[in-house]
Amino acid sequence: MNVCYKCGYMGEDVSDHFRDEKLFGYLFCLYYPRYEPEHCFVAEDNGKIVGYILGTPDTRRQERLFMAKMGWRILLRTFLITSWRYFPDLKVILHFLRLPRSTAPHDEILEKYPAHLHIDILESYQRRGIGTKLMQCFEDHMRRLKVKGIHLGTSEGNYKAIPFYKKMGFQIIHTERYGMWPDAPEKRGLIFAKSLI
Ligand SMILES: CC(C)(COP(=O)(O)OP(=O)(O)OC[C@H]1O[C@@H](n2cnc3c(N)ncnc32)[C@H](O)[C@@H]1OP(=O)(O)O)[C@@H](O)C(=O)NCCC(=O)NCCS
Repeated sequence: MNVCYKCGYMGEDVSDHFRDEKLFGYLFCLYYPRYEPEHCFVAEDNGKIVGYILGTPDTRRQERLFMAKMGWRILLRTFLITSWRYFPDLKVILHFLRLPRSTAPHDEILEKYPAHLHIDILESYQRRGIGTKLMQCFEDHMRRLKVKGIHLGTSEGNYKAIPFYKKMGFQIIHTERYGMWPDAPEKRGLIFAKSLI
């Protein structure tokens, strides 16, 4: 969850934009290692996790399980801790909740690209080929599971991830009308995808 927090603001440290590191981890990271660890890979340096790729072969199932397993945790944390200890975060959460529904053709995307992933590497370990290795591991694993394709979301503001995904053979298949961060609404969301067949 620490790696997620260090990389979660369009590839940069989240701390100036969202203070509750634990809630951020509940929202964007914890589900995968806890409930689908067989689809997660990490890069370690002397036992310390310095990067990961997390994902699922079946996004529909993951969305259902996420609500069941993480929904109550997120609500409890928000009301009991975040709301008084990290009050300004509530504005960001309200912004997330008020975001217009994605205009992406969800069913069509899941039909062709049922898997999805998240990848993050601590800044001092970037640009050493770790991302490429993690991506190869994840793709090989998905091919073994006979998954048809993978999709993922990022932001127009993520100047490292965009060239990385393109180099890994992903293509942009959808551009959202809005960005997810209240302080950078002009950086629109992007959906990348890659077929594995
Ligand atoms: C994006 C990220 C996963 C790439 O991992 P990495 O280990 O640094 O990437 P690699 O060293 O394997 O690089 C592979 C290729 O990606 C591209 N790339 C990687 N980092 C880049 C950067 N900072 N700027 C431009 N291109 C970059 C290059 O084409 C690179 O090939 P090259 O080094 O031969 O030019 C990593 O930078 C990262 O974790 N960033 C912060 C978190 C993040 O943005 N995650 C994605 C959220 S959607």
